[in-house]
Amino acid sequence: MAIIKVTDDDIKVQSDSLAQLREYFSMRAMERGSSFTYDIHTYGCQLNESDSEKIIGMFQQMGLSDNKDHEGKDPDVVLLNTCAVRENAEDRLFGNLGEFKKTKRSNKDLIIVVCGCMMKVEENVNRIKKSFPYVDLVFDPQQLHRFPELLKESLNIKKQLVNVGTEDYIADDSLIPIARQRKFRALVPIMYGCNNFCTYCIVPYARGRERSRDFNSIIDELKTLESQGYKEVMLLGQNVNSYMGEDGKHTFPELLRAAAEMKGFSRIRFMSSHPKDINAEVIDIMASYDNLETHLHLPLQSGSDRILKLMNRPYNIEQYMSTVELFRSKIPDGAISTDIIVGFPGETEEDFQHTLDVVKTARFDSAFTFQYSPRPGTKAAAMKDDFISHDVVTERFGRLLSLQNELTFDSNKAKVGKVEEVLIEGESSTAPDILTGRTRSNHLINFTIPDELKVQGYSANDYEGKLCTVKFTNARPYSVDGVMESLKNE
Ligand code: 5AD
Ligand code: SF4
Repeated sequence: MAIIKVTDDDIKVQSDSLAQLREYFSMRAMERGSSFTYDIHTYGCQLNESDSEKIIGMFQQMGLSDNKDHEGKDPDVVLLNTCAVRENAEDRLFGNLGEFKKTKRSNKDLIIVVCGCMMKVEENVNRIKKSFPYVDLVFDPQQLHRFPELLKESLNIKKQLVNVGTEDYIADDSLIPIARQRKFRALVPIMYGCNNFCTYCIVPYARGRERSRDFNSIIDELKTLESQGYKEVMLLGQNVNSYMGEDGKHTFPELLRAAAEMKGFSRIRFMSSHPKDINAEVIDIMASYDNLETHLHLPLQSGSDRILKLMNRPYNIEQYMSTVELFRSKIPDGAISTDIIVGFPGETEEDFQHTLDVVKTARFDSAFTFQYSPRPGTKAAAMKDDFISHDVVTERFGRLLSLQNELTFDSNKAKVGKVEEVLIEGESSTAPDILTGRTRSNHLINFTIPDELKVQGYSANDYEGKLCTVKFTNARPYSVDGVMESLKNE
């Protein structure tokens, strides 16, 4: 599998295609008397969210607007950016595509596009070819930068175009349009792909080999974001700690430090860290800059050394726990979250007990817990004989969840009485007049503003992206209540 650098000529093809599509859609809009719109559905992780921001950027350059802003109108282009990491993804995609059959019957001009990680799984693509011939365009995540060219071609040929390759591309992201979807948080991928091949995981197949972005290009993007007033940046990669720059001469700590030196940012986050690669240097940097999040996402996956081996996770619990202890000692107010899979093939009750033990000792502040699901083409999917019955998995999952719920609640309770800085994310969905935001440790806070601190003429959403201090008054299972103490001036 080759890694191909996207050339300036390739990019020129895309910008030419964008201009031609813009002309095409504007001409058609004039003919029919209404503008063209897109409807995008994004599933999965922040990397998919980031890809969708690029797709939206391209849609906008084609002159299309979000269908959500046109009440009562049907979209002209529907795009599904899929995720293949866990189960149900297939059912949901094919269910959705079935629904579109009716829509397409009443609107023959509707353009349906499917992309994302599921398109790297051959059987999914074959099923689209066979059962959903009305899907216009299919492409894989590595071809994202080619979306304008592919869309143009699919409109020209007027039949299904499937473009799924084996190449991994690395493009200069600064040349690809992007429409950031959040006012205060910017997603910045620093690397693509994964080389780890954990035996349960489809990502290395779906996203290809690790490619680190050019160091200076990331720094330039960060500087631009800082000058645009973004308060929070999230550095993204499947395994950020193996970042090395495009030339192989850089490191993640170097990048993290350079980002932290940009004082316009009040929150710098990064995801995900692999326990085998995170090191003391990263934790030291986290402890020494006050604009770095004090939250570490450190996927455990299993508390059993035996299962970790079967998962091809090259660390053991002793090593994992020494990282946890180091983090807790250097950043006592910090928080650790994790990912755990229950029911990996061959997991015994004893293995599972080890997971519960580690969870108890590590006292995770929060955790994403998953029931194992075999992913096509992965090594673990071939361990069929060792699959565990659904009932056993559900029962274990329930026990893990109730333990973790207790720990998450404890972590929230420990905040009560404290005053901390909160980055406001907007209006809370819990009640009107309540704002929501996060602490540096990534705790979710819902809080009120005393009348004397309210800014005249502000609606709840005008506070989005601002920093304030909040006194925490009450803990809930998944959040903390509080009252604003002061609002920081810009
Ligand atoms: N089954 C269940 N959970 C999975 N994850 C990845 N692959 C699978 C799978 N086949 C979980 C891991 C990973 C998170 C993003 O999704 O815990 O860290
Ligand atoms: Fe998947 Fe493992 Fe890579 Fe994470 S590190 S994306 S779990 S293969």
